[in-house]
Amino acid sequence: MAFPEGFIQELKMRNDITDVISSYVTLKKRGRNMVGLCPFHGEKTPSFNIYTETDSFYCFGCGASGDVISFIMKINNLDYVEAVRYLAQRAGMDMPEDGYDDSISKLRKRVYEANREAARFYYKTLVSEKGRAGLDYFHSRMLTDSTIRRFGLGFADDNWSSLCEHLKSKGFKESELTAANLAVRRRSGKGIYDRFTNRVMFPIIDLRGNVIAFGGRIMTDEKPKYLNTSDTPVFKKSENLFSLNNAKNSGSRTLILCEGYMDVIAVNQAGFQNAVATLGTALTTEQAVLMKRYADEVIICYDADEAGQKATARAIPLLRGAGLNIRVLSIPNGKDPDEFIKSKGEDGPAAFKAIIESSGNDVEYRLQKLKNQYNTETSEGRVGYLNAAANLISTISGDIERDVYTSLVCNEFGVDKDAFRRQVNSGIRRKNRDYQKKEIRKIQSDLGGRGDKFNTEHYKKPRSSSAEEALIIYLIKNPDSAEYISERLTPENFQNSLMRRYYEYFSARIKSGYEPLNNITADFTEDEKNQIFKMLHEHGAISETKLALDEYIGVIVEESEKPQSGDYANMSTDDMLERLNKIRKNKQ
Ligand code: UTP
Ligand code: MN
Repeated sequence: MAFPEGFIQELKMRNDITDVISSYVTLKKRGRNMVGLCPFHGEKTPSFNIYTETDSFYCFGCGASGDVISFIMKINNLDYVEAVRYLAQRAGMDMPEDGYDDSISKLRKRVYEANREAARFYYKTLVSEKGRAGLDYFHSRMLTDSTIRRFGLGFADDNWSSLCEHLKSKGFKESELTAANLAVRRRSGKGIYDRFTNRVMFPIIDLRGNVIAFGGRIMTDEKPKYLNTSDTPVFKKSENLFSLNNAKNSGSRTLILCEGYMDVIAVNQAGFQNAVATLGTALTTEQAVLMKRYADEVIICYDADEAGQKATARAIPLLRGAGLNIRVLSIPNGKDPDEFIKSKGEDGPAAFKAIIESSGNDVEYRLQKLKNQYNTETSEGRVGYLNAAANLISTISGDIERDVYTSLVCNEFGVDKDAFRRQVNSGIRRKNRDYQKKEIRKIQSDLGGRGDKFNTEHYKKPRSSSAEEALIIYLIKNPDSAEYISERLTPENFQNSLMRRYYEYFSARIKSGYEPLNNITADFTEDEKNQIFKMLHEHGAISETKLALDEYIGVIVEESEKPQSGDYANMSTDDMLERLNKIRKNKQ
């Protein structure tokens, strides 16, 4: 066991799960439980549940589940020990001295420290004689000294060991510097050299103020223009955004999404603190969900070139999917935000503010794009455009919003609103049918066992597995029954090997006097742990009488004595339908 049992118990008691989660998710009471919009995937109707009885959470949409510790791990991107430390601090508890293996945590801590020291070093170099070229470069790009300080910009000189030497003198090991991707091991295997040389440096800072990575730009036309830190134990580029640490303090629920470092900084200097950028990759779902935590609206502010427009088209569904409202900025003359602001000289900030305020929402933007594809001077082109527009409008989920765009299009072309509306409605019906088909296919594949990749044995032996699952849940909820059960069942009676392992684990725990669910995160893999919580919630309504227990035991014994059959291939249609209905009910 990683931490002393009593410590984790107290930690959880002092960090009420509802209390902790409510600072990340707006929760509503539903019966004994709480529900809200899942912070781990984009959604508009709540499927994220907190079960106060078991102090756990479960999302029916994405399957995320666990206890208060796993929640903190997931939402703050921490490992187990760090999450425990975080909650201990929150509750004002001291961490136990020793006795847990935290080698990964220790490495992460060292990587954070190395990054912080590196950022300091790069900044110091920038403002020293050695950094003259870098400082001149930033000035030539119109950055003020106060902006440079605010972003902690820096310079990596052209000596391949400056940073390594410095950090080694501060006590860092070579392995720590390569883990941080600040240095790279020589091909010979002996020694390391600096990852970044002769580049101006942009530190990437997370929401808790840690320096987690760097981007470095070369000052000439050489390639690659930007070099970024690869993924490390503290950094995943697909899950972070540049300058979100500044943007979250801007006091605005709107974010300006730019393509690159320089755009974000220029936009900041023009007076908008709420700009962010992805880190050298296309926008990901994780980033969209992350934005939704701090914003309700995103203004996409990509380059006006073709690549920028493609990226815009890709970003829109991701952002919509996360529940964000979207506006799209079009920058005149094919410029990026940085170039636009610079080109206006002193009027840059005001000019940028003006285009922000006049930016249309994404539907207008997409209608405009569609229109460009048709020659609306001809009847044929008009029909093509109107059909495509109706199709686009049918994807909007709000009635009023749909009506607004219907009017917009109809007025522009003088067409009958009722006819256009009928076209939109038939698009909606078609999409609903497609959606239902997809749902049914999903249920069918769940039934076939292909959907539940983890507990696949369930589908091979549904009767015994269901009884075994119910028994495990019963045991977890009624630890006092452990002895009664062990007099009637042995692990060998279990057909499902995963359930057998759970049974062995939980009975042993209970026998040693521990709370069954306390502190299990350290003992199970993510999948194994998720499976337990999934079962807890799917079987939430199982009967908990002694009579029911006897029935589970009866079925388990009976099935273990039977020659094996009873998978889905042999199930009657009625049984199949019953099972299907049960799944549907569980989903609601
Ligand atoms: P751009 O090529 O549009 O550069 O790349 P930029 O932001 O306008 O930069 P400046 O103004 O020339 O300095 C946009 C973003 O794509 C990533 C960087 O994050 C960059 O900010 N990128 C670009 C890379 O990661 N590597 C590259 O080689 C180029
Ligand atoms: Mn640029």
